[in-house]
Amino acid sequence: MPSKAVYLETFGCQMNELDSELVSGQLRALGYRFVAQPEQADVLLYNTCSVREHAEQKVWSRLGIDRLRKAERPDLVVGVLGCMAERDGEDLIRRMPQVDILCGPGELDKLPALLDNAVRTRASLLADEPGASPPLSSASNVPPPLPPSARQVALQGSTSRRSATLSAAQDTLELLDLSRSVSPESHGRTRSAYVRITRGCNKFCTYCVVPFTRGAEVHRPPDHIVDECKRLADSGVVEVTLLGQTVNHYRFEHGSVVTVGGVTQPQKGRTYKGAHNRDAFAGERVTTFADLLRRIHDEAPAIERLRFVTSYPRDFGDDVLEVIRDHPRICRYLHVPAQTGSDRLLRAMNRGYTVGEYLEFLDRARAHLHQPEIDRPLTVAGDIIVGFPSETEEDHAATAELLRRARYKNCFIFKYSARPGTVAFEKLPDDVPEHVKRRRNGELLALQQEISAEVGREFVGRTARVFVEGFSRLEHRRRRPVGAARVNGDALHSVGGGGGGVVGLTVMGKLSNGSLASHTPSACEMPPDGPLPEEGRGEPVDAEGAIASSGERGSVQLSARTEGDLIVHIDLPGGDDARAESLIGRVITVRLTDSRAMSLVGTLV
Ligand code: 5AD
Ligand code: SF4
Repeated sequence: MPSKAVYLETFGCQMNELDSELVSGQLRALGYRFVAQPEQADVLLYNTCSVREHAEQKVWSRLGIDRLRKAERPDLVVGVLGCMAERDGEDLIRRMPQVDILCGPGELDKLPALLDNAVRTRASLLADEPGASPPLSSASNVPPPLPPSARQVALQGSTSRRSATLSAAQDTLELLDLSRSVSPESHGRTRSAYVRITRGCNKFCTYCVVPFTRGAEVHRPPDHIVDECKRLADSGVVEVTLLGQTVNHYRFEHGSVVTVGGVTQPQKGRTYKGAHNRDAFAGERVTTFADLLRRIHDEAPAIERLRFVTSYPRDFGDDVLEVIRDHPRICRYLHVPAQTGSDRLLRAMNRGYTVGEYLEFLDRARAHLHQPEIDRPLTVAGDIIVGFPSETEEDHAATAELLRRARYKNCFIFKYSARPGTVAFEKLPDDVPEHVKRRRNGELLALQQEISAEVGREFVGRTARVFVEGFSRLEHRRRRPVGAARVNGDALHSVGGGGGGVVGLTVMGKLSNGSLASHTPSACEMPPDGPLPEEGRGEPVDAEGAIASSGERGSVQLSARTEGDLIVHIDLPGGDDARAESLIGRVITVRLTDSRAMSLVGTLV
């Protein structure tokens, strides 16, 4: 097979980013090469997100352009991967017949075979039908779609998967995670990696498509996870972020291990009925989330930062908080979405907790990690949905009150998007008008901005360990020759696709990013309007789009993150590039000297 050029674009969440990384590793091993522009590609792949309609619209628009591309290049192969493929299935092909491959998020291990088949089938069809090969020039003259039998489709169909007890045990997707090729090059200078610990979700929040698109919750075997962390550490990774829709529900029962094809398989998640302590599982041979954190911390000591997203507010054990408290390389940071401050809406969302219980949890977490002698306070990030069906001004005021009490360091605020197939879509009219959603969204963003600034100011005067991610956005901008076009050197693209806004010390307003380095809603999908991938790692900007930290002339500015996910800009005097380069990818100590709208200023100590 000649080396085919692949353009892979990723929409949405960290889970999708990890999937794209794993898929591209597999394809590279098979001889495919990755290109930065769709025009250079023989294969166009979109790893999609369905959490909000806005994210899907971006993919529809890409596919519309590809329809024209295919008129010029009938041999082009187009694949839709991820949640949209799973959710829309054959409807997607009916609407966009030029799509050759559909591959759901639970079937990505099959992508290499699907792609190989699609490339061969396209080639042989074109050879058989000479009339199809001359380029066609107008949209109305698009090449004939593939016959249905030639299309490559791998979807789980959430119903069959959920009802089949053995299906979780036979989750071949584990092979995709196990296939991860790890080398000093694979995480380059970023030295930061995601590691999946659970897949899918069993929560069925009434607004959310994830349980339908990603299927039932399964937990990966702890040995696989720990091995992956060790391999990453050996290749130079210093920061690992554990991923799952509800990471704190992680639980692996060793007694019931199933081996398929020589591979220990993930386990179907069981509802965590535990109290807030480790006795919840007494007598069973299990690895709980707390055990897993402890194991990674102790067995992969070169991982200087261990973090995890996203946590579910209910049933968050004290055992986890104790492990965080007692293990210095575990970050004191929680992303724990509340979704609304109204008890009535929490019930309608099927979230399973009240506002009081949520706030009690935050108090408990902060109290556990309050140790003035080591001065490493917990920071918390949240997610909020505005305009959920029937949301009143009183509900909205209650959410504002929740923000005040929760004191998030940042909060992702999304406008409710009715998703077909969910309970809310079927049963609850989407009755909050768009202009009201927009206003409430803006009000909460403004409030959160004030809170984020206050939280930032509390850190001024402290010393902190920070992970240096690279040059700041300002530094990138300074280095770009005047008038130069933006160049994207990265062949894997990430795009946010929200419908809300993000505010906080990481990301604000209308700019965001799709990178490892700044934090995005992890259940699915990133904040709005997508990254500027060529500009790096999602740094804070002020409302006008200017850089939040001014930097000094003649200095080199680095961007770093505290363990609590606060952005820190560090100016190295004298423009010492070599020194700056040597700090990238390292955890260093800085003194936090000032706070800006969306970031902190640090100096080396
Ligand atoms: N509309 C708006 N926001 C949603 N989220 C999930 N589903 C929807 C929806 N239908 C948000 C939740 C979740 C985050 C990843 O996305 O806040 O925590
Ligand atoms: Fe699961 Fe999170 Fe979606 Fe709820 S919002 S169903 S917990 S992924």
